[in-house]
Amino acid sequence: MKPSPSSMSKPAMSLNSCKNAVKMVLILWDSRCNMTRDREPIVGSFHVVCILALIVGSLMQSSDELEPAVDYSDRNLTHVPKDLPPRTKALNLSQNSIQELQMSDVSILLELRVLRLSHNRIQKLDFNVFKFNRELEYLDISHNHLRNISCCPVVSLKHLDLSFNDFDVLPVYKEFGNLTKLSFLGLSATKFRHLDLLPVAHLHLNYILLGLVGYHVKDGETESLQVLNTKALHLVFHQNSLFSVQVNISVNALRCLQLSNIKLNDGNCQKLITFLLELTRGPSLLNLTLYHVETTWKCLVKLFQFLWPRPVEYLNIYNLTIIQSINYENFTSSKTVLKALTIEHITNQVFIFSKEALYSVFVNMNIRKLTIADTPFIHMLCPPSPSTFVFLNFTQNVFTDSVFQDCPTLKRLQTLILQKNGLKNLFKVALMTENMASLETLDVSLNSLDSRAYEGTCSWAESILVLNLSSNVLTGSVFRCLPPKVKVLDLHNNRIKSIPQKVIKLEALQELNVASNSLMELPGCGAFSSLSVLAIEHNSVSLPSADFFQSCQKIRSIAAGNNPFQCTCELREFVKRIGQVSEVVEGWPDSYSCDFPESAQGTLLQDFHMSPLSCDTGLLIVTIGAILLVLAAFVAFLCYCLDLPWYLRMVCQWTQTRRRARNIPVEELQRALQFHAFVSYSEHDSAWVKNELLPNLEKDGIRVCLHERNFIPGKSIVENIIHFIEKSYKSIFVLSPHFIQSEWCHYELYFAHHNLFHEGSDNLILILLEPIPQDNIPNRYHKLRALMTQRTYLEWPTEKSKHGLFWANLRASFITKLALSNE
Ligand SMILES: *[C@@H]1O[C@H](CO)[C@@H](O)[C@H](O)[C@H]1NC(C)=O
Repeated sequence: MKPSPSSMSKPAMSLNSCKNAVKMVLILWDSRCNMTRDREPIVGSFHVVCILALIVGSLMQSSDELEPAVDYSDRNLTHVPKDLPPRTKALNLSQNSIQELQMSDVSILLELRVLRLSHNRIQKLDFNVFKFNRELEYLDISHNHLRNISCCPVVSLKHLDLSFNDFDVLPVYKEFGNLTKLSFLGLSATKFRHLDLLPVAHLHLNYILLGLVGYHVKDGETESLQVLNTKALHLVFHQNSLFSVQVNISVNALRCLQLSNIKLNDGNCQKLITFLLELTRGPSLLNLTLYHVETTWKCLVKLFQFLWPRPVEYLNIYNLTIIQSINYENFTSSKTVLKALTIEHITNQVFIFSKEALYSVFVNMNIRKLTIADTPFIHMLCPPSPSTFVFLNFTQNVFTDSVFQDCPTLKRLQTLILQKNGLKNLFKVALMTENMASLETLDVSLNSLDSRAYEGTCSWAESILVLNLSSNVLTGSVFRCLPPKVKVLDLHNNRIKSIPQKVIKLEALQELNVASNSLMELPGCGAFSSLSVLAIEHNSVSLPSADFFQSCQKIRSIAAGNNPFQCTCELREFVKRIGQVSEVVEGWPDSYSCDFPESAQGTLLQDFHMSPLSCDTGLLIVTIGAILLVLAAFVAFLCYCLDLPWYLRMVCQWTQTRRRARNIPVEELQRALQFHAFVSYSEHDSAWVKNELLPNLEKDGIRVCLHERNFIPGKSIVENIIHFIEKSYKSIFVLSPHFIQSEWCHYELYFAHHNLFHEGSDNLILILLEPIPQDNIPNRYHKLRALMTQRTYLEWPTEKSKHGLFWANLRASFITKLALSNE
């Protein structure tokens, strides 16, 4: 088992060490030990103290820099481990089976400050073993089997716990008087002698714990013990034996007395009272606390009756069990200095009894503050005469709506806590407060309150300033039934879906908590003109409106995190607003994230951005219009400056030609063709034909027939024309105003066209070299005119840059692979 050097560090303190921690707290509880438990949540008060102790304990540890701390608790050790890190400052060895502690065990731990050895089996302790541990401040050897100790404890000790051991007499030696820093002393004994504690009488102790578990009665003998100068004294009796201690303990300036494990019946009741007589004599005792009390009702009332005239200001009883029977007991609440009675956690073992016998004692107590929490009580009576109560806390009982109905005697009551009971009807609760003219704070949280059942007006006490309705089943209609002057309203964890249109104007309302409901919208501040704090986290607010900030000018704090925000255009304004006032926004930015759309889920609102374009339709239309306009201008520019239509026409023709050429089966053309192209042109254009057309076609292997080059002499011109048009795959006509003038050209066109009709194939190519105005074409050339309107022709571009495309287009009309006879 290797020690984990940090495992005993701050939060890892075990629950066992909690007890010790409690003790530490009590040490800290310096001067007053004033346990005003008024507003403390009652749920497991011991745990509250315990947690507090843990916190304080850990604070103390960290402030003392107790690292490295070594935790060896509960490991079945029989000896102190040998391999402890020498720099250990805190060592926990509790809950083991260690029988002996030797100097060699701890002598190397020169920096040791805290040593916990409780719940082991140590029988003997020589304080000399700590000779080298000069820093030791905290030593807990409680719950061992010590019978003897020998001198002398380290002078630096502040906390020394020797309680719950097997000492016969209190092990307090003369040398204890040197422990000037001592604050806590835990001891145990089975018998007492009057001056046992004399050696420490001059020390200013804060806390003495006396374990009297092994104490047994000596018949007829009364022992006495003088306890001087401690602020708090805690006596722990045996858990299972009837109370029988007969020690006359006299104290001086005691402020806080605690007794644990008191078992009483009608027979030994007087013994406790006698025991307390001396202890409660002093003028300064403030606080008396009893833990784990088992008693009859009769004895409890007797105890109250005894304590009432005593100088006790606060009386607390935790874990009370009532046994045997409950009958009417006489209780007169004479003048008392008692300010507050707290009873938490009552177990009632009596089942058939008069409720009135029980409750009437409490309501007649004539004190200011009463807490009865965590009990099976179902009711509390209305005090029969004007009552002194200003504070009543009935947390975690089983009270119903009928409590304090029609009760005119609680005129002075300022705070009423009915948390965690069985209240159901909000209107009855309002009615209950009607006569409580001083009531300022009402806590009815954690009930089953419902506001739907009833539609009348609610008769709240006008004085109510703080109303806690949290954790009930209230709906939006609760806003029609609220005290008119309420300043703080807690409605969290209910079932409010919306705040209705018509609500009570709450002009004084400053703090509204509607967290953990099902609200879909932020409330406006119309009805709550003073609202400065709003909690609305954990609701269903998806599209909060930015108007909220307009309506709620006084807002100082808003918590709206953990809502399912819809990150759409509508949310932008809100996000913008909230960003501007982020200092009043609780949890910003971490608790505010998108829930919708899915793509944005989890994105923090702070990081959520929408482009202005996608959110503004007008802007969108304008933008699209502008883009179209620019596009149109661009196209116009292209048309105007770069002759785009020409290019388009050319490309179009080219693709068409290619398609057509591909569609004609090659075999069909496998006739005796000699040329790819027959070119017809006017003499005037022959320069262009020879310099431009020929080179460009022939470089691609296109064979061209020209009349001046290929015409067979001897044959008539017409014969030649017919012959060569037939022997050519295509006929190219170079059109120009000159062409129209030429008679021959016209013939050639005629024959080629004729051929075209007969073959049914598409073998005419018209090249427009120079524009020919339609009107210039003489009427007799109606064929040419028709052709020019019907068919598409290739225009010879004047710009040089366009020539490439022109030639490519022309060449695409030819299938150069065509087999030509070489005749
Ligand atoms: C209302 O009571 C709940 C517990 O029941 C508590 O958590 C809350 O703090 C109380 N609200 C106010 C404003 O005191």
